[in-house]
Amino acid sequence: MKGILLAGGHGTRLYPLTTSLSKQILPVYDKPMIYYPLSMLMLAGIREILVVSTPTALPLYRELLRDGKQWGIEFTYVEQTRPRGIADAFVVGREFVGKSSVCLALGDNIFYGHGLPEKLQSAAALKSGACIFAYPVSDPGRYGVVEFDAAGKALSIEEKPTHPRSNFAVPGVYFYDNRVVEVAPRLAPSARGEIEITDINNFYLERGELQVETLGRGFAWLDAGTHESLLQAANFVYALQERQGMMISCPEEIAMRRGFINRDQFRALAEALQTNHYGNYLMQLLREDFRESPA
Ligand code: TTP
Repeated sequence: MKGILLAGGHGTRLYPLTTSLSKQILPVYDKPMIYYPLSMLMLAGIREILVVSTPTALPLYRELLRDGKQWGIEFTYVEQTRPRGIADAFVVGREFVGKSSVCLALGDNIFYGHGLPEKLQSAAALKSGACIFAYPVSDPGRYGVVEFDAAGKALSIEEKPTHPRSNFAVPGVYFYDNRVVEVAPRLAPSARGEIEITDINNFYLERGELQVETLGRGFAWLDAGTHESLLQAANFVYALQERQGMMISCPEEIAMRRGFINRDQFRALAEALQTNHYGNYLMQLLREDFRESPA
């Protein structure tokens, strides 16, 4: 399976922060926002990743993430000339996806929770159909909303409904078989002028090929798209990291624990950063021989 990181968009809700800066490069405590969804893809075992962003911001992501070899992965970059919608990831990314299945992760979504890597890996093992998640939120009307029957089977998905049929929102990580690259270009834009990921999910739902996995209260899903949620996300990461002494979504650590890079490669990354808190953490992992629970 291949991965797409969507890191374009307007970011209007974060103005003036995003007037001249791309949202997904903003800090969430001690890392650029994009490290969090990137870590999700890495935890799912995905190593070929397309980064999609605006023509102005794409060079910044290239500078930040490079070719990916440093973390044992491979980045490809493509411009989205205009924010035509989340589903547009599969239009601009069609060539990259090729004949593969694909996971799309939104660049401003942050996930955390025990058992998450296993959930991601089993979704990434999908052979046909699609797999998405559902997560209870207090403000479902801002998202795609899933309605379930009494047996827990998904009945409908509506995009930003005025009267949500449940409080289960669809978070920004989606797994699809290769048909998604055929479906996306055929979608008609919605009233807000975007091609909607919800229409893709409904394509699979109507065919009985959409698996919806519920994430319970043991998981955190945050999107950092508003001033308030950006601060909440930073506070969340800070509080957990300080308490546990373990980082959330550190690509170097995940690459090492997953065997994408070896110890010598890890040491070189750590030494290059070691004068600050981030580098000190990597050096400490080396000294402790990666004893703590694996990522
Ligand atoms: P949104 O948060 O829906 O949109 P946005 O980032 O443009 O922000 P705002 O509503 O404040 O103007 O987008 C979700 C994620 O998807 C975010 O990381 C940006 C990305 N995105 C794209 O890269 N291209 C697009 O065409 C769209 C709609 C979003």
